[in-house]
Amino acid sequence: NKPITLFELGKMRAEGRKIVMLTGYDASFAALLERNGVDVILVGDSLGNVLQGQKTTLPVTMDHMVYHTECVARGCSRPLIVTDMPFGSYAESPAQAMRNAARLMAAGAQMVKLEGGAVMAETVRFLVERGVPVCAHIGLTPQSVHQLGGYRVQGRSDAGAATLKADALALEQAGASLIVMEMVPAGLAAEVTASLSSMATIGIGAGADCHGQVLVLHDLIGVFPGKRPRFAKNFMEAATSLDEAVARYVADVQEGRFPGPEHSY
Ligand code: KIV
Ligand code: NA
Repeated sequence: NKPITLFELGKMRAEGRKIVMLTGYDASFAALLERNGVDVILVGDSLGNVLQGQKTTLPVTMDHMVYHTECVARGCSRPLIVTDMPFGSYAESPAQAMRNAARLMAAGAQMVKLEGGAVMAETVRFLVERGVPVCAHIGLTPQSVHQLGGYRVQGRSDAGAATLKADALALEQAGASLIVMEMVPAGLAAEVTASLSSMATIGIGAGADCHGQVLVLHDLIGVFPGKRPRFAKNFMEAATSLDEAVARYVADVQEGRFPGPEHSY
């Protein structure tokens, strides 16, 4: 099985094959995700929540992200590895973002992810033009939880929806390859997806009409002790092994069975 490249992701998008993304933080799970067909492993700063027990992702550092990226990169060879840039590691300037992205790429990331809309377009372009593929992230952006006033659905108002659409277009024009949309009404996410010409949309709580889906591993296997958000599904409820749970997630995304209306807004 050939490694997943940007070119392959573009082909999947063009051919209407769903991109299956899942978070992973260590070598053993990276191997498990790989053998069950996950296309993209996200080393998410959700590791602050699910590994470290933090209330938010804000305390996650570059050193944490480098360490977990190295662990994941040793465990797999086919999935594309995307690593989150943590809070405070990219917002100052494009130069700061490039300096920190370079550390993540050296650790084994093949793309970096950063949160924010049109305000981040200049930084996205700076990275892309210097050889760093970028995944954007809009809608509910957990690093801005204190600004947003909680973990809630975004883009419900007409103004919010218009901003979200404009953000996606700005990030596409800046050269982002992927964009995560988190906690966005399904109809709006579908509109954004249809409005783009090259960037692939990855939904989490954004309905079934995105080019792909992502979940947090610990939600999927039902081991996160906190309240499970509406968009998450515990795939262990219908599985007898971790391999089976991940394989079912992959198949359900590929065949359009997940997410259902009960996981959407
Ligand atoms: O950190 C993370 O796991 C994420 C996903 C929820 C998209 O950013
Ligand atoms: Na994240």
